Amino acid sequence: MPEVNWDALTAEAVEASRHAYVPYSKFPVGVAGLVDDGRTVSGCNVENAAYGVTLCAECGMVSELVRSGGGRLVAVSCVNGLGESLMPCGRCRQLLWEHGGADCRLLTPQGVQTMDQVLPQAFGLADLQHVADAPKGSAGGSADAAGQ
Ligand code: THU
Repeated sequence: MPEVNWDALTAEAVEASRHAYVPYSKFPVGVAGLVDDGRTVSGCNVENAAYGVTLCAECGMVSELVRSGGGRLVAVSCVNGLGESLMPCGRCRQLLWEHGGADCRLLTPQGVQTMDQVLPQAFGLADLQHVADAPKGSAGGSADAAGQ
């Protein structure tokens, strides 16, 4: 695992926040992540006139992660427009969970915490696997549209 330089990671997040497209909220967000192979990825929020279509900064970062070769996030720093540490929203914690898992570390306003701490009992691949691996005929809903 690469060593985490939180100051450098946060500086990347601040730099990313300067590219945010936030004509509606005027609330820039930047995020940077350290990948298990040592590279870093980053993102900024990109808003839309249809407000709900807005992409959080973490969406951009995860997209860059996958596009640039994948891997696992081991450390993430997210900042607001003042350069202060910002706790990712619930949806984005789920995104980080998918690509970093329980042990990924996050710099929060309360210090460094693991994803397990900031998203306890997270839903994830293991939940899908558990049901997929259950014996056929186990209780549950129908798997097809006809309800057969
Ligand atoms: N935002 C993020 O980019 N990430 C978060 O984790 C929290 C919220 C953005 C979305 C929107 O552009 C602005 O912050 C205000 O909600």
